[in-house]
Amino acid sequence: MVPFLRILGIETSCDETAAAVVERDAEGHSKILSDVVLSQLDEHSAYGGVVPEIAARAHVEALDELIEEALKRANVSLNDVDAIAATSGPGLIGGLLVGLMTGKAIARAAGKPLYAVNHLEGHALTARLTDGLSFPYLMLLVSGGHTQLILVRGVGQYERWGTTIDDALGEAFDKTAKLLGLPYPGGPAVERMARDGNPDRFNFPRPLVGEARLDFSFSGLKTAVRQAAQEIAPLSDQDVSDICASFQKAISRTLKDRIGRGLQRFKTEFPAAGEKPALVVAGGVAANLELRGTLQALCDKNGFRFIAPPLSLCTDNAVMIAWAGLERMATGVQPDALDVQPRSRWPLDSKAETLIGFGKRGAKA
Ligand code: KG4
Ligand code: ZN
Repeated sequence: MVPFLRILGIETSCDETAAAVVERDAEGHSKILSDVVLSQLDEHSAYGGVVPEIAARAHVEALDELIEEALKRANVSLNDVDAIAATSGPGLIGGLLVGLMTGKAIARAAGKPLYAVNHLEGHALTARLTDGLSFPYLMLLVSGGHTQLILVRGVGQYERWGTTIDDALGEAFDKTAKLLGLPYPGGPAVERMARDGNPDRFNFPRPLVGEARLDFSFSGLKTAVRQAAQEIAPLSDQDVSDICASFQKAISRTLKDRIGRGLQRFKTEFPAAGEKPALVVAGGVAANLELRGTLQALCDKNGFRFIAPPLSLCTDNAVMIAWAGLERMATGVQPDALDVQPRSRWPLDSKAETLIGFGKRGAKA
């Protein structure tokens, strides 16, 4: 028997304002009672990226109503929730302040415990909500601000096996799109153009392929794209498609090598893992069908299950924050004091060293 728990989650770490209510009953069945997300994409797209000041103001304007809406859709009142979970890092400090302060105020007023949740922990634990995964498993987080391969051992127990030493993968997509004149966010635009392109026209570099470490690097790839584009300018639509297809192919090959090594390491470290081991993918880049195909094939080849939660739960949302709070509460983790502070940097694995350039943009997770 597990305790029945119902949690209100709040997420404001980047450019999505979100609130959600999630519960788990005594038999262990979990249920998303509401999931409200307001994307600020339109407000930032003119600038080609997230503007922190605009993001923070937009959170202030939207959050109260969004929380009310989440409670209404869940058909519960604040009295009916057991705790409040609010993202308190990593992310843009202005947005984090808005969400965490609101969480504190509600917790105080309603007399409920507060969990200050690490946004990355939300991503890391989502697959337990959607697929009932048991520990341990591997997670690849590929978003606009992070590219990390994480061993998830248990609630609060994370080991970073690999991270980017320069750009995050989503950032590489966004920068490549920008230099090719494609709209922001770049990932979907690059993927669309790549469909009609020749992936073998350009032989872009596959950074760190063959190296034993499990880290990633994407800035050299971006530079190679820029050089290729300059050499053949002016670019026709076909040129752009060919560059996008070749860019995606280089990334697929890189991931295949890096993640393939990660799966091998997992098998070596956990030879007796009872059920088929799992690789979970999360983050906006997980929407990319070619990359999904690569990871699926890699998992099939290595005897792993490939788990990709629905896209709305792979990208930023408050369900994962509520769920992380629920998991912590259920495991007996004490709530946070109301003077807890937001942290723009907050690695999941506190023992992992900071790599050059890691989390440089620091804004998105
Ligand atoms: O997780 P996410 O929605 O936001 C944060 O970074 O927090 O990820 C956004 C990133 C952007 O860099 C975007 O270009 C990328 O995910 N992305 C994609 C695709 N859809 C979104 N990258 C490649 N292919 C896609 N289809
Ligand atoms: Zn995120």
